[in-house]
Amino acid sequence: MSQHQTTDITQAVLARLADDCDPRFRQIITAVVKHAHALAREVDLKPDEWMAAIQFLTRVGQTCDAKRQEFILLSDTLGLSMLVVQMEQERRSQAALADASASARPTEATVQGPFYWQGSPVLPLGSDIGEGMPGEPAWYSGRITDTHGKPIANCCLDVWSGDGEGIYDMQIGDGSEMRLRARFHTDEDGRYRFWSIKPYYYPVPSDGPVGDMLRAMGRHPNRPGHIHMMVYRDGYVPVTTHLFAHDSPYLDSDAVFGVRDSLIVEYQPHAPGTAPDGRRMDKPWHSAGYDFVLAEAAA
Ligand code: BEZ
Ligand code: FE
Repeated sequence: MSQHQTTDITQAVLARLADDCDPRFRQIITAVVKHAHALAREVDLKPDEWMAAIQFLTRVGQTCDAKRQEFILLSDTLGLSMLVVQMEQERRSQAALADASASARPTEATVQGPFYWQGSPVLPLGSDIGEGMPGEPAWYSGRITDTHGKPIANCCLDVWSGDGEGIYDMQIGDGSEMRLRARFHTDEDGRYRFWSIKPYYYPVPSDGPVGDMLRAMGRHPNRPGHIHMMVYRDGYVPVTTHLFAHDSPYLDSDAVFGVRDSLIVEYQPHAPGTAPDGRRMDKPWHSAGYDFVLAEAAA
């Protein structure tokens, strides 16, 4: 059939795929063509609407720079990042999930977000990374085990969060000074403990094209208060996750769909007094306890 006589342009595009192209690429590009064409047909897409979409994507690209990744934000706010995170965790934890002798499921993963900074300071257990920061002090503690309850010693807990006003270090000044982030290593019993602040809700950047999209959808840009954690040790499936404050607004409407019930943590309020590490607190503080579970990596 000559191209001029093509009645099904979708098949014509797919027929042009070279026989020797990478099989995974073939699978993905075939799905892209099929779904994109189906979308155009489903909504009876008009040329000016398609041009508006192209201009939107052009603006998304133009908004990206060394510090801002508007395409990831687009993926996050459309729930795609979270979907890919969930599928990856299910894939990597299959053996642990199928293990009838396991006593616990691996901690659920959630989106990494744009504020991870590799190489934060390694600090002793019990350190305070929230001192002098806006926000109410919070004592974090718990245990890291495998899916059979065995403690994982020397496991890295890489933590980062915004301050008590929802601002991350990378958003302050030229963004070159780290704060509210550190790496801790569990003790022999798999335990961790440190001081930080109780996190506060904050908006994802909404002054660009993704913000325009959210407004057109009638959505707010906020994320509920959370602290990020990356938990890893050789021999285990690493997990990138958050703990969400149980009493934060927006738990049921996170702008990036990252909330999981299993990650919502009660922040217990405490009056001034003596903290678990013996420290005298002269203002109110909180405590949040959470036990992480890592799946054993496949041999
Ligand atoms: C965050 O948690 O910091 C975040 C996640 C996704 C998009 C924007 C911010
Ligand atoms: Fe965050």
